[in-house]
Amino acid sequence: MQVKIYDDYEKLSEATADEFIDTIKQKPTALLCFATGNTPIGTYKALAKKIKEQELDVSKCFCIGLDEWLDVPPEVKGSCYYDLHHHVFEPLGIHSSQIHLFNALSTDIADECNKMNELIESKGGVDCMIVGIGKNGHIGFNEPGVSVKLQAHEQVLHIETLASGQNYFSGPVKIEKGITLGLAQVMNAKKLLLLASGMNKAEIIKAAIKGEITEMIPASCVQLHQNVFVMIDKEAASLI
Ligand code: GLP
Repeated sequence: MQVKIYDDYEKLSEATADEFIDTIKQKPTALLCFATGNTPIGTYKALAKKIKEQELDVSKCFCIGLDEWLDVPPEVKGSCYYDLHHHVFEPLGIHSSQIHLFNALSTDIADECNKMNELIESKGGVDCMIVGIGKNGHIGFNEPGVSVKLQAHEQVLHIETLASGQNYFSGPVKIEKGITLGLAQVMNAKKLLLLASGMNKAEIIKAAIKGEITEMIPASCVQLHQNVFVMIDKEAASLI
């Protein structure tokens, strides 16, 4: 586990974008996994800028999303579909044929999970995955108590996620469950970037990277990851 501490959010975002760039340069056909939430937005801005400046070809990459709010339609701002298109795919010029996201409106969630699992398998695993961390220690929608052995699965959302989740939407949206890559897939990512910024993440970062490895803090499993970069700013690092 490499813990990298940056002076501020901007430096953190630049450095995280550079990790993506390195992966794409080394493997133009890379499978990239993107998270939503507020934390990676700066990374995505920096990534779009760097890709343009360096005239990097991203036409052979393939992109997947980490998770999705079940039953929230794709046109709703705050859905992972909407946010990833807005912050990542459109600015990076990624074509729809290079994208696979969970379908929040699917009537067959098991099939939806299988499709994602098979896609990851068929591409030989995720080359670079960016994840945030919830204040309860979740990664994606892997909530406290989840097994580290799970692949893509449906998840009843934790009370903390239900509350903070409302902040991503323009008005009240009914959220109850999510669909997410499982921790087995997070642990298998060839490069994992765990991002956190700000004082409100300091406590959970300390618990996740310095505390006991426990299913009650799903992010603590990254302590056992083969190639993880914990990318945090000074505030998020203030208790470690
Ligand atoms: C949501 C997402 C997670 C994200 C987390 C933290 O619950 N499903 O993938 O990591 O929020 O988000 P933020 O970066 O806004 O703190």
